[in-house]
Amino acid sequence: MIRVATIGTSAIAERFADAVSQNDGIRIDVAYSRDAERGRAFADRVGIAGTSTDLEALLASGEVDAVYVGSPNGAHAAQAQAAIAAGVHVFLEKPATPTAAEFEALLAQASDRGVVVFEGMRNVYDPGMAKVVELLPQIGQVRLVSFGQSQYSARYDLVLQGETPNIFDPALAGGALFDLGVYPLSALIHLFGVPESVVGSTVTIATGADGAGAAVLGYPDLVAQLSFSKIGFSQRPNEIQGELGTIEIDAITQPRLVAITLRGGDRAEHRIDGADNNMTYEVARFAELVRGADPAPDQQRSLAVLRAVEAIRGA
Ligand SMILES: NC(=O)c1ccc[n+]([C@@H]2O[C@H](COP(=O)([O-])OP(=O)(O)OC[C@H]3O[C@@H](n4cnc5c(N)ncnc54)[C@H](OP(=O)(O)O)[C@@H]3O)[C@@H](O)[C@H]2O)c1
Repeated sequence: MIRVATIGTSAIAERFADAVSQNDGIRIDVAYSRDAERGRAFADRVGIAGTSTDLEALLASGEVDAVYVGSPNGAHAAQAQAAIAAGVHVFLEKPATPTAAEFEALLAQASDRGVVVFEGMRNVYDPGMAKVVELLPQIGQVRLVSFGQSQYSARYDLVLQGETPNIFDPALAGGALFDLGVYPLSALIHLFGVPESVVGSTVTIATGADGAGAAVLGYPDLVAQLSFSKIGFSQRPNEIQGELGTIEIDAITQPRLVAITLRGGDRAEHRIDGADNNMTYEVARFAELVRGADPAPDQQRSLAVLRAVEAIRGA
């Protein structure tokens, strides 16, 4: 049994707890919060027995095998570093860390310590993405890809009122690229590998974070354009154009309708009967890795995404 402690008490940690409950061989024993009452309330909401407000003591207790890091992006690296030092496996919410260098340091530390570091990038483990992989050979040589994730954030309303919510706080690695741009980037790199070139541009909002942006990524034989926004929304599907046909994907975070249209006009629509909470698939993968599967491909994809993020930010 993999015994997990959660870090963070927001809605995403609840969703993680629900995903864990759908998997065998893994359970959450302890909820960590910086605040005792908030931790207890969270633990009661999701049915976790133990709580803690002392992360170092929790990690040293021997009572947990893994932590779920569901804190703001800017807190991930230090919490992961502490967990690895204590010999505890780490499941990081996306994006794994704000910089590629921080993630590389965690990988080196984890390798020395013999534990797994994993980024929960839910779309690449989704059965809808597996359907895309299965259909790709039918459209021949891919030439153009257009992926995006744009979702208006209610927390942008707070920015317009002069506030700086965490998700738009540059000090916590907030912003649209870190929050949403990583989904189309991860899908792209999962499907087509590491790009040869990356250029991007972003729109800066009042907090100093990016609210929206776009990127062009070059490969030897194809070009991809990505877009992401938390200050607008999109009605466009995602598209992969090959020489023989085109694949459309309804949502890059959770593909549930994947359509293929061949050049002659033949069209087939594939409805994906996947879990409503597709974090269940990333939890299953994490459990596999903790049980001994090779984490290198997952980690190298995450690292490539973080490098592309840096190129888009011009960092
Ligand atoms: N996979 C997905 O679909 C998905 C969706 C949303 C978010 N996320 C990811 O989940 C993570 C959390 O995002 P969120 O929007 O839920 O963040 P958030 O609400 O700002 O913070 C999450 C939790 O972290 C703790 N926290 C808050 N501020 C902190 C700080 N300055 N330092 C340390 N801990 C702090 C809080 O728990 P306590 O106060 O109880 O300690 C809070 O409940 C991010 O990495 C985000 O990208 C993933």
